[in-house]
Amino acid sequence: MILEFNLNGNKYIKDTDPSKRLVDFLRDDMGLTGTKESCGEGECGACTVIVDRKAVSSCLVLTGQINHKSVLTVEGLADPDGSLSPLQKAFIKHGAVQCGYCTPGMLMSATALLYENHTPTEEDVRIALAGNLCRCGDYSAIVDAVLDVAGSAKKAGK
Ligand code: FES
Ligand code: FES
Repeated sequence: MILEFNLNGNKYIKDTDPSKRLVDFLRDDMGLTGTKESCGEGECGACTVIVDRKAVSSCLVLTGQINHKSVLTVEGLADPDGSLSPLQKAFIKHGAVQCGYCTPGMLMSATALLYENHTPTEEDVRIALAGNLCRCGDYSAIVDAVLDVAGSAKKAGK
């Protein structure tokens, strides 16, 4: 099936298997290995990408579903010159990365949240990231990073 889509700001026309999972298409066909797979069942959020400004689990999306849509992966967050996005910088500043396996999915869920809500509360952030699991533990650094870049840094407890 010939698919037309935008991926990280670039237009593509590709003949591909529409029944392939999007996570496999991105990693294997497009070479974008920043998107991770963990559970493969829509439970962990590691594979989260953004399709038409909404966060989706790419292990549950078929490649045919991106036809005529825009896809953003973690590789598309930085500027073309390699400068990290404000959210990526905030993750570093707050020490929100440990092993980093969950990080691409966290970044994409948080990016989708910030598209819709420029001044999220701590609760908004926690709800938006509820589907993203981090086995390394401390979610507060991740939440702080998102609040920081949103300009609504958490006051209580800090
Ligand atoms: S790998 Fe897709 S949600 Fe876990
Ligand atoms: S930093 Fe290791 S899983 Fe989140």
